[in-house]
Amino acid sequence: MKSTLATGALLAAAVKSASADIPDGVVQFDVARRQPHPRLLRRASTTQTDITNDLTQGGYFIKCEIGTPAQSLTLQLDTGSSDIWVPASDASVCETSKSNGGCTLGSFASDSSSTFEVVGKDEFSISYVDGSHSDGDYFTDVFSIGGSSVTNMTMGLGSDTDIPYGLVGVGYKTDEAIVSDKQSLSAAYDNLPIVMLNEGLIKTNAYSLWLNDLDASTGSLLFGGIDTDKYHGDLTRISIYKDSSTGVFTSFIVALTSVQAVSSSGADTLTSTGFPVAAVLDSGTTLSYLPQDLAQEIWTEVGAVYNSEAGAALIPCSRASSGGYLSFGFGGPGGALINVTMDELVLDLTSTGNAPTFTSGRYAGQDACEFGIQNATTDPYLLGDTFLRSAYVVYDLVNNQIALAPTDFNATSSNIVAFASSGAAIPSATVAPSQAAVTATSAFTTPAYAAATGFSSSSSTSSSSGSSSGSSSGSKSAAGMVSVPMDMIHVGLVSMAMFAAGGMLVL
Ligand SMILES: *[C@@H]1O[C@H](CO)[C@@H](O)[C@H](O)[C@H]1NC(C)=O
Ligand SMILES: *[C@@H]1O[C@H](CO)[C@@H](O)[C@H](O)[C@H]1NC(C)=O
Ligand SMILES: *[C@@H]1O[C@H](CO)[C@@H](O)[C@H](O)[C@H]1NC(C)=O
Ligand SMILES: *[C@@H]1O[C@H](CO)[C@@H](O)[C@H](O)[C@H]1NC(C)=O
Repeated sequence: MKSTLATGALLAAAVKSASADIPDGVVQFDVARRQPHPRLLRRASTTQTDITNDLTQGGYFIKCEIGTPAQSLTLQLDTGSSDIWVPASDASVCETSKSNGGCTLGSFASDSSSTFEVVGKDEFSISYVDGSHSDGDYFTDVFSIGGSSVTNMTMGLGSDTDIPYGLVGVGYKTDEAIVSDKQSLSAAYDNLPIVMLNEGLIKTNAYSLWLNDLDASTGSLLFGGIDTDKYHGDLTRISIYKDSSTGVFTSFIVALTSVQAVSSSGADTLTSTGFPVAAVLDSGTTLSYLPQDLAQEIWTEVGAVYNSEAGAALIPCSRASSGGYLSFGFGGPGGALINVTMDELVLDLTSTGNAPTFTSGRYAGQDACEFGIQNATTDPYLLGDTFLRSAYVVYDLVNNQIALAPTDFNATSSNIVAFASSGAAIPSATVAPSQAAVTATSAFTTPAYAAATGFSSSSSTSSSSGSSSGSSSGSKSAAGMVSVPMDMIHVGLVSMAMFAAGGMLVL
């Protein structure tokens, strides 16, 4: 589910012009808090996730070609939704005369494609958790990614949208917008991975996602296979959970069963009344959102502070280089363990290099960054890019399983293994031994915060070793697989938060 802010560039412009009266080193943010969407069409049958203030750090985008002759567009990859849609060239959001700069990642001129066909007049309507939306016709046309084409792909044409770029949703077809709009599972059409399977490009409906380091600008998406050189150790398989209200698989919900905070000064096992936490692995969401008690414990460990003006937990930027990491466990004891180091969790609030400054409180004078783990009130909770970058993740939509392993940041070699056939298990992955026993919720007890001191020191105790340079260029791979390079693109600069006293953080 996409949750980035579409109007960031516009805001940034406003911020620039307004910042003349503000002292150096302080950046003013304008308010851009979106109202929570009253009813999420896309999740009509599930609870609403309340996310009102995402900073736009950037998402993962892939280059696609659509139509005849081919038109190039760059679309955001989203494991949290299931439709492909593109902004129409005549949508007002794409008009370059507007101060928002138009659709710089491309838009689709349907008139110019000889293979374009409308299959659902005005039937396409999607809303995302951040309140943004896209509406128009469903159409079919030729669609290409990673050097492979499908001839009859159903997509949405965003004629009325506030998002200046399209998305490629690769989730379950049961999560397509049309299913919730029509309140009927039988309204679902075959979405991208299924069409790739049907057209013989891949052998099963499964793919692997390697987002890579926060400081690297590329990752890769591999349909139909895994790349054993992109992770450390072994893949562990865990079950995907059905949506509790509909009883079908609709999104990549997994059981987060433990969180540890580890630093040079100690280790704490964190508790939550919400364990096991039903968390969605969602590449379309920049940050991660956990239950209140767990988020608060994590903030105390790492030294993040909730700022009510910003509506988000912030942290001194210098803590990116502090020692310590968070260890996320899935599928119970002996299941998958993913360690996320602080340099993956401290995000710039702007991409201009001008960080706002804490003006009072314990961090007075220090540069402020956003912390990668925020709190949310309702499930499903989200593990977005701030978590996913540290994991190699395989999504198997036939067996309804996820496999996870610690990522190998900046890996340059490749060893691609295909799924053998439709329904074959994820290669080289062992099942989490005790996940069937995961049921009980644990009670909240205040941790000793033994690790907290270590998170404030600057000696790095990184838990992962990456090979050093460059990133692989995502070449076309063996038969039965399609490899797609992705770029991390900053689609906007800042969002949210008017800081009361002239653009300064008062804490
Ligand atoms: C293309 O897809 C649409 C929608 O799924 C379907 O109605 C149509 O029959 C398909 N056309 C071809 C040529 O396969
Ligand atoms: C997050 O935590 C803060 C501080 O406790 C609280 O004020 C805020 O309402 C919480 N936000 C959500 C979405 O739960
Ligand atoms: C992750 O953290 C846990 C807990 O500290 C540790 O036992 C494990 O070795 C770490 N794994 C990796 C791959 O660094
Ligand atoms: C990965 O590469 C980027 C730049 O290419 C670098 O800044 C980063 O430190 C590297 N990460 C690791 C873990 O080696």
